[in-house]
Amino acid sequence: MAKTDLLPPDADGIARACAYLRDGGLVAMPTETVYGLAADARNDRAVARIFEAKGRPRFNPLIVHVTGIKAAQQWVEWSEAADRLAGAFWPGPLTLVLPLKPDTGLSPLVTAGLETLAVRAPAHPLARALLEAFDGPLAAPSANPSGRISPTTPTHVMAGLGGRIEAVLDGGACGVGVESTIVGLFERPTLLRPGGLPLEALEAALGAPLAMHEAGDGISAPGQLQSHYAPGATVRLNAHEKRAGEKLLGFGPVAGADLNLSPGGDLTEAAANLFAMLHAIDDGVSPIAVSPVPDHGLGRAINDRLRRAAAPRG
Ligand code: TXA
Ligand code: MG
Repeated sequence: MAKTDLLPPDADGIARACAYLRDGGLVAMPTETVYGLAADARNDRAVARIFEAKGRPRFNPLIVHVTGIKAAQQWVEWSEAADRLAGAFWPGPLTLVLPLKPDTGLSPLVTAGLETLAVRAPAHPLARALLEAFDGPLAAPSANPSGRISPTTPTHVMAGLGGRIEAVLDGGACGVGVESTIVGLFERPTLLRPGGLPLEALEAALGAPLAMHEAGDGISAPGQLQSHYAPGATVRLNAHEKRAGEKLLGFGPVAGADLNLSPGGDLTEAAANLFAMLHAIDDGVSPIAVSPVPDHGLGRAINDRLRRAAAPRG
């Protein structure tokens, strides 16, 4: 494929995106968290192309995007806990992992052979419009080459996947900036990935604490690979100063920062800036030092992504 179309955020753009998807094509769509690389979740060829375009290992399952609770119930065994969480936070940055129903017609590549399925109803108006128009389930991982920084702008998507996918639906910059929070509801409610919905809000809605997923647990989020979100350069965390040759990604009122996630120390602003600033500060050579970020609210997701960015490369 030679060229990736940049589609306008209007009825014409939605119609063209929808036509590509019906043809088994790949379309990057804006969501409130990050851009997702969407394909028809019932079409084996289309889903296989997601893995090829991203260079994603086949054992790493995909999230299926739906319009809401009713649509999700077609694909998964619903539960009271699911009702409580989706009722409070859908559409929004929350993914639920639930038992997969039998004979759904979804491509088995979506679940990578697991007996559970991740479902999410995104809140972004363009993602919602596309799901309504397509009128079916869209499998969509983040629209970046596997292992690299997630995209929060059409420019990021084009830089990573341009020429390998049919189109990008232009929704500008994503508001939340980190991926959805993933909760497993197939046994006791478990936080599988911190994300754009703070743990504190989830536990309040559930009326109980969530169990924490530990690496090495039998059932896991297979995509939680150690090295992920990797910039070209190395990353040093909890930096209280900038060393020779480094670039400093600041948080709060720190001196000498090359870029600052939030000079005022606001975690929502920092999450929205995280991936764009990692993209921007990365020259592929200069080591990146990052100021400490508090580990509560959205800080939990920010620190999770930063730890993976800093992890030894596999
Ligand atoms: O905000 C988001 O969640 C974005 C937007 C596009 O919706 N999507 C996203 O997808 O972050 P992806 O593929 O980059 O991350 C999905 C994570 C992976 O770590 C994957 O392993 C995990 O969800 N996952 C998917 N299905 C699962 C399942 N059945 N059980 C456990 N983990 C699952
Ligand atoms: Mg991803």
